[in-house]
Amino acid sequence: MTEKRPLEQGMRCFPGSPLRGTVAVPGDKSITHRAILFGLLAEGRTEVSGWLDAADCRSSLQIARMLGAEVAETDDGRLIIHGTAGNLREPEDVLDCGNSGTTMRVFLGAIAARAPFAVLTGDGSLRRRPMRRVIDPLTDMGAAISARSGRFAPLAVQGRALRGIDYTLPVASAQVKSAILVAGLLAHDGVTAVTEPEATRDHTENLLTAFGVHVKRASLPAGNRIEVEPGQVLRGAAVAVPGDPSSAAFLIAAAALVPGSAVTVTGVGLNATRTGFLRALGRMGAQVELGNLRKVSGEVVGDITVTHGPLTGIEIEPAEVPSLIDELPVLAVLAAFAEGTTRVRGAAELRVKETDRIAAVAEGLRSIGVQVDEAEDGFTVYGRGTVDGGAVDSHGDHRIAMSFAVAGLAARRGVTVHGWDCVNISYPSFAATLEQLGASLQAWSE
Ligand code: S3P
Repeated sequence: MTEKRPLEQGMRCFPGSPLRGTVAVPGDKSITHRAILFGLLAEGRTEVSGWLDAADCRSSLQIARMLGAEVAETDDGRLIIHGTAGNLREPEDVLDCGNSGTTMRVFLGAIAARAPFAVLTGDGSLRRRPMRRVIDPLTDMGAAISARSGRFAPLAVQGRALRGIDYTLPVASAQVKSAILVAGLLAHDGVTAVTEPEATRDHTENLLTAFGVHVKRASLPAGNRIEVEPGQVLRGAAVAVPGDPSSAAFLIAAAALVPGSAVTVTGVGLNATRTGFLRALGRMGAQVELGNLRKVSGEVVGDITVTHGPLTGIEIEPAEVPSLIDELPVLAVLAAFAEGTTRVRGAAELRVKETDRIAAVAEGLRSIGVQVDEAEDGFTVYGRGTVDGGAVDSHGDHRIAMSFAVAGLAARRGVTVHGWDCVNISYPSFAATLEQLGASLQAWSE
């Protein structure tokens, strides 16, 4: 992997030479969070290789330490975690989840069941994000959680003996599903079952299995049903984290847009709950090839090769949204360079991400000369094959910043992204990797 760069507040991204080469992407963010949490909860030693060393996962790591995990970082980039066997220590200070919704929501399931007392907070963005979606089901399980205005962080939690729940997710959220499954596993009694009407990422189910937990999974007409029995001991495991498909999406999109490009991204997680972006890109007419497919730590992994070619507009149906939710901002950028209209519906969840991503995408596209309509639950982008360029505000959201950097590599006048440091949330080496592939970038401090 390429080197991390110092904090950069702004980035100018220019059109230029084709992007060519073979690169890897940093580890999967969702899987890294879960590996750290399960390492904390497990009995014995957990070894995590290929973990994402970025701000979000550092929040989880710090919290795991505060809850009693002993964590060592090896020189060759592995984490060695000695777990607590489920006996969480009372943290001496507030648990700071930073910008990370996954940390706050998924750790909450464990904390509510096992920590004597804890307070969770986060940055300004996280403190505006909805927490009732986890507080409500956990409260039904017997948890004692107080929240600011009843629904926002900071959250104060008094650990309690929880009971199992049979719960149908009202929003398609892997974070909520995971919080409930973890709480159910650590509960005092009663089986916990979660039904998800729409499939969401299933890394929790896969990784719990790797930690020796029996997870019962059924595909029913009402959706996927996942059941766990309490009292099962997590056993420390060796986890190899695949490359993050959501980070790879930016490189793939750049290769699809910049004339003459051909890029291979190696070792990327290809779990079917995460590959909606690749399927959508195929429908837009891009040439995407998968190779070297294999299974690592319960997840399908492979190499993705993309070559530049013309794109056309497509419809994104609500049912496919969970499989590409984090890739919708960069898909909107691709749509701007496509010929024809791209419509996304059923994606209201975008409004409650790190920023309101529907508003941020629409504002950003307009600033670079693209026509876009905003809907409550999505957007319509009117692609004209080319894009003028301009300046865009990231709103402190890593995926908005990287999406518009990609736009700059193909827009006539390039794109200036204001608020670049947030890229460190999930992909600190992004600019360096783009440059390695041949992109022209120029950083500056505002
Ligand atoms: C995540 C689930 C998704 C996703 C987020 C990571 C996870 O959020 O957008 O980036 O690791 O479980 P929701 O659970 O809110 O859908």
